Amino acid sequence: MFDRHRKLRRTPTIRKMVKETHLHKEDLIYPIFIIEAPDQKKEIPSMPGIYQISLNRLEEELDDVYQLGIRSIILFGIPLHKDACGTEGYHDHGIIQEGIRKVKSLYPDMVVLADTCLCEYTDHGHCGLIDEHTHDVKNDETLELLVKTAVSQAKAGADIIAPSNMMDGFVTSIRQGLDDAGFEHIPIMSYGIKYSSSFYGPFRDAAESTPSFGDRKTYQMDSSNRLEAMRELESDLMEGADMMIVKPALSYLDIIRDVRNSCNIPVVAYNVSGEYSMVKAASANGWIDERTNVMEQMTSMKRAGADLIITYFAKDICKYLDEERV
Ligand code: PBG
Repeated sequence: MFDRHRKLRRTPTIRKMVKETHLHKEDLIYPIFIIEAPDQKKEIPSMPGIYQISLNRLEEELDDVYQLGIRSIILFGIPLHKDACGTEGYHDHGIIQEGIRKVKSLYPDMVVLADTCLCEYTDHGHCGLIDEHTHDVKNDETLELLVKTAVSQAKAGADIIAPSNMMDGFVTSIRQGLDDAGFEHIPIMSYGIKYSSSFYGPFRDAAESTPSFGDRKTYQMDSSNRLEAMRELESDLMEGADMMIVKPALSYLDIIRDVRNSCNIPVVAYNVSGEYSMVKAASANGWIDERTNVMEQMTSMKRAGADLIITYFAKDICKYLDEERV
């Protein structure tokens, strides 16, 4: 005597009936890189299909994104001038602030997330101020600048603040700063569980933010650690995080599941640049089928417990979902 599991796999319709995990357009958050340049739409060599886009070219991209059904985007700014303190990150008319304003004026119902970090704005590429003696990133001094960044992004119209810098205490500082500035209604999506990862390489090409010395290991987490993620989660919950990002996604599905089981706020998987580039490279070589592979990967993140997914594949996925429906 044995069980006949194949009974429920017999036809496409039966398989659909018993499907446990579903992916929707509402689950997706699409990253956009906005560059301070006169007139530019430049493809990032390590990320085929993803561009650095100047303000005047943003509208065509947004039309496309909106029409496909995406209602949530995360913006990254690439300033013309970088300096040691990342000044352009918290300038009220910096590239990210202007980008946010532009999106909200064109598509008021688009949910705009702002990546709150300094690495795109510092000339050394680190996520905060550098101690001149130890060359380490200074924690508490950096917090002040992050608060200024978050407030200027909220002022520009950002709907959600997504701090990714991994300084200790960033959630509580930013929460306080937002509240004091009258933005108590703006949620924080914390990138509090962010591993130091080789998968960020292509992003750093896109954001022109590769550190000019050292690495990010004194602030981003060691990929060997699972309990540490729980400690980061506890702090962020206590400090007032409204949503929690786990990043990267695919090599960290166990962490996504742990986080899902340990809190009641929405969990977000960041399907990072290197994960995107690997699929693109393999598919360009004809080694995998991109569409089925992408859908399998997205499903695995949702199955692991992610409620939302930040992914460079968002536009492709919307097309796949539309085709499935007909
Ligand atoms: C900024 C930031 C990074 C990513 C998102 N926000 C880069 C980093 O920490 O170097 C990476 C995203 C990706 O690889 O797609 N701190």
